[in-house]
Amino acid sequence: MSYKDKIDLTRLPRHIAVIMDGNGRWAKARGKNRIFGHTNGVRAVRETAEACAELGVEYLTVYAFSTENWSRPEREVNALMSLLVKTIDKEIDTLLKNDIRLGMIGDMSALPKSVADKLRHAIETTAHCKRMQLTLALSYSGKAELERAIKLIAKDVLNGSLIPEDITQELIEQYLYTYGMPDPELLIRTSGEQRLSNFLLWQMAYAEFYFTDVMWPDFDREELYKAVYDFQHRERRFGKTSEQLAVS
Ligand code: IPE
Ligand code: IPE
Ligand code: MG
Repeated sequence: MSYKDKIDLTRLPRHIAVIMDGNGRWAKARGKNRIFGHTNGVRAVRETAEACAELGVEYLTVYAFSTENWSRPEREVNALMSLLVKTIDKEIDTLLKNDIRLGMIGDMSALPKSVADKLRHAIETTAHCKRMQLTLALSYSGKAELERAIKLIAKDVLNGSLIPEDITQELIEQYLYTYGMPDPELLIRTSGEQRLSNFLLWQMAYAEFYFTDVMWPDFDREELYKAVYDFQHRERRFGKTSEQLAVS
């Protein structure tokens, strides 16, 4: 029996975030170079996106390239950037077919022009799609996102459109890349590593963390269903007691 049949479709997370990790180790274990692992990770993204959309998840955000990843060897960075260009081109039809809208969070200006142009085009082409939003985190880091937000808020205070008392949690959220999206309720990280690596620091305040030893290129629908099933067996107390939850 598939975990899919055990999932309660009325209690799905609205937003799932994924740290797609382990491509390099997956390739190394097969005697190949790291780039072979990245290439093989694309199928896992497609399967995860399709599975989430079919279940009824509204937002899927995948960590594809962190600000810190710029310090990898130039050859790997270049290969990742050209893989992005190729993949975005190839997958636009799949996105349209599945009614999935593409989004991006991160520093678009740091990306090579070829990547930024493809991304903008894919985002525009799929903007009308309604079933799910697939957001790529690219040249993204949580601390950089907060730094950017704080700078923008400071500018608005200086130019008089805000006063310090206006700065609430809701206002801060308006200055984040994720404005308009619900916070992720479930974070999945593959490859056995158990850390956030600077992903969605603010937004993850109350996410449930799910870690699996599966390497990203081996992640598939069933692994996604398993993670959602696991999520549905967590008690999300938000500071309250179990007894309080039982009566509400
Ligand atoms: C994740 O896999 C993909 C990116 C960070 C781009 P890694 O490349 O981090 O693979 P490992 O962790 O070295 O195995
Ligand atoms: C996090 O993975 C970033 C992405 C998945 C894009 P890394 O492999 O870069 O993270 P660390 O270095 O293990 O923390
Ligand atoms: Mg890694």
